[in-house]
Amino acid sequence: MKSFWLLPFGATELVGCRRFGRVAYRAYDQEVPALNALLRGRALFGASFDMEAVDDPAYGALFRKHCGLLTTDFSMKFGPLRPSMDRVDFSKADRLIDFAAEAAIPVRGHCLIWNEGNPEWLKRLSPAEVRYWLDRHVAEMVGRYAGRMHSWDVVNEPFWPDHGAEGGFRKGVWYDAMGPGYIQRAFSRAAIADPTVKLCLNEAWVERNTPMAQKVRQGLLRTVRNLLDAGARIDAVGLQCHLEPGPSMSLNVLSDFIGELGELPVEVYITELDVRDGSLRMSRRDAEVAVAELYGDFSNTVLAHANVKAMISWQLSDKYSWLRKEGFGQTPLPFDSNMRPNPAYFELARVFCEHSR
Ligand code: XIL
Repeated sequence: MKSFWLLPFGATELVGCRRFGRVAYRAYDQEVPALNALLRGRALFGASFDMEAVDDPAYGALFRKHCGLLTTDFSMKFGPLRPSMDRVDFSKADRLIDFAAEAAIPVRGHCLIWNEGNPEWLKRLSPAEVRYWLDRHVAEMVGRYAGRMHSWDVVNEPFWPDHGAEGGFRKGVWYDAMGPGYIQRAFSRAAIADPTVKLCLNEAWVERNTPMAQKVRQGLLRTVRNLLDAGARIDAVGLQCHLEPGPSMSLNVLSDFIGELGELPVEVYITELDVRDGSLRMSRRDAEVAVAELYGDFSNTVLAHANVKAMISWQLSDKYSWLRKEGFGQTPLPFDSNMRPNPAYFELARVFCEHSR
């Protein structure tokens, strides 16, 4: 276990979690350096955001300070946008894109096509109608924000081997209507609607050391190669990395996989980083240290790969983490509920300095 964090920003910022306790860094919590700036362009650091960033001024300020990239968390998904077949509500999505524009931070759209979280009305349609809605949704969304987005998660979480589909694909409304072909269809339609935005295939589980995760990794590599062979545009692979501390996770396995992706002409983004600390059986203080060390080891591992161009956490403050809402974590993110830096912040900062240009 590391016993202290040493930040190269001056003597007053010699901080120690275990040696000096939390008070040591609480004293200057407003003064800590901006995470994205510490990377000096080596990669972008960012976070997912939603209406809380717009409505809570302290939270909005945290994004503006630390992020060089934002991902829409919830309000640009198919379900919230299209509560019924004859109604589409872009109001929240528009506000998120405006927030990012006013802050001059590039924004990633998440996500166009996902076999989860879809409205009931879509599930009742025929395969031909579902195909129509894929084409229409991708064209409308990508077209509406064309020229304003950094990238789109075109397809989210295509694999779920436990569903038993050939190739390990996740079942759901899009897959059931079109088979695996829905993926290439979505990428092709998105490429037409915005010729310059980066198109990304986003997936979970890749850091797990389990037979199921192995199938997910194989499926992802196969799908990216197939898309490229078919002449489809795909610019990036997103690795979610909702980390679960323990033996089911392996940074070596993740590192090897990022290395394999490095042989393909795609960038790699870490897209949804957080730590499910709910399973840690230890005091809150010790859990914060364990989470911080995982953030440090993780970022050191992924930033060693030149193809990793972005690292995005899933929200920025514990207050708004989905893991906390769902009971899977207390301190999953770099900032606590009062927007003050957690120990994880300091580990990220230390590693970012080591990898900066
Ligand atoms: C989560 C959102 O953060 C929650 O607000 C929502 O209730 C459920 O989805 N993988 C993904 C994200 O790709 O879209 C999920 O986001 C988290 C897991």
